[in-house]
Parts: sequence; C-alpha cells; structure tokens
Amino acid sequence: MKIYLLISSLLFFSFLILSTPRLKDLPEKGTKPAVTSSVLQGNQEQIKLGERLVMIAACHDCHTPKKMTDKGPVIDYSRALSGHPADMPPPDVNRKEVEQKGLAVTNTLTAWVGPWGISYAANLTSDATGIGNWTEKQFFTAIRQGKYKGLENSRSLLPPMPWDMYRNMTDEELKAIFAYLKSTKPIRNIVPAAQPPVTAAHGK
Ligand code: HEC
Repeated sequence: MKIYLLISSLLFFSFLILSTPRLKDLPEKGTKPAVTSSVLQGNQEQIKLGERLVMIAACHDCHTPKKMTDKGPVIDYSRALSGHPADMPPPDVNRKEVEQKGLAVTNTLTAWVGPWGISYAANLTSDATGIGNWTEKQFFTAIRQGKYKGLENSRSLLPPMPWDMYRNMTDEELKAIFAYLKSTKPIRNIVPAAQPPVTAAHGK
C-alpha cells in the first residue's frame, strides 16, 4: 500500500514539474508575447498590397485634396486620403440649376453638387475623424452594401463613390485595403455632412 502511495505521489509531482513552464519560456516582464517575423512580414505584405490597390483603384482621385498648379490640380500626398477639407466651401453655384442640368465639383474633386444634393469625399485616414475606429466588418458593409459609416441601418452612400464597382473586390483585396488604411498617417479632418437636394427628386 505504502509503495503505491509513494509511486503515485512521485508520478504526480513529476507531472507538476514537467507541466510547469520553464522560466526561460516565460515572456520577460513588460514585453509583449513574441510575434514571429513571418507574421510581421505577412502584415507588411498585406499593407503593401492594400497601398497598391488604393493607388490603382484611384481612391486618391476623390479622397485626397489637390494642390493647384499651372497644369491644373495635382494630388497633395501630404494630405493623403483625408477627404474634403473641412474649411473649404462646396462649389459656389446655383444649386437648383446644377441639380437639373448636371454636376459641379470643387477643383480638389472632393465636394460634388448633383441631383443627390452635395456629397463630400470621406476622410479615410487612420485618425478617429477617418476610419480609425472602424472595424473590418464596417469597411466590408460600406464597400459591399454602400452604407454610410459601414453601419447596416445607415443611409446609402451617395455618388460619385463607386462602391457598386468596388464591391467586386475579393475578401483578400478588401482586407488588404483596410489594413493599409489603418496604417496611414492619421489626419484630423471633420468632413462636412452631406446635404440633400434643394429641389424635389424627379422620377420618384
Ligand atoms: C469618384 C470619386 C470617389 C472615388 C474614386 C472613391 N470614393 Fe470613396 N467616397 C466618395 C464620396 C463622395 C464619398 C462620400 C459619400 C457619402 O457621403 O455618401 C465616399 C465615401 C467613402 C466611404 C464611406 C465613408 C463613410 O464615412 O461612410 C468609404 C469607406 C470610401 N469612400 C472608400 C473608398 C475607397 C477605399 C476607394 C478606392 C478603392 C474610394 N472610396 C474611391 C468618392 C469616391
């Protein structure tokens, strides 16, 4: 009997010793758990892909303010993706006439007057006034369902945001764009709220 007790307690203690992590395996106090370099590299590659997609899908065309030159407006990358500048007024036009006859746009291509009212290109930087507090799910809802702020019960996104074309991007491409946007320099810019048309919408 005694010998069984001795063996089983020996077994129990050796189990305890074996299952306790060795000191050198424990992360040092105050350091984050080690991230393997391949994960980091994977993230960098995803961000690079996102940056490239943002470039070739022309997001800057509307979401980045422009500098005026003698050849016309050129993209101002120092304000990349920060949306329509808060202090810039929309085009000074007869809105009633524009809503019936065509479109008007600021020379930054960031504020648009048309039959839908006035739309302002959003701030897509990592700042809280941009997409800094968005989840990836919100970004998918914005691009796949065309919903403002990426919330399912919010209003539809207005023209000229071409979400119904971008919705054809793969999950991998959208994830990469979102990862890139989250990595951008935060630029604080509270884009003005969209405005409804001054005339009643026709055909409805
Ligand atoms: C032709 C102009 C144009 C292009 C190109 C464009 N956008 Fe937009 N985008 C807009 C406008 C204008 C709005 C604001 C629409 C509104 O308020 O309803 C907007 C809104 C958005 C929103 C919603 C923001 C919010 O707060 O709800 C997201 C997200 C977005 N764009 C992402 C992108 C991405 C990513 C690209 C490139 C792949 C892109 N846009 C290209 C014009 C454009």
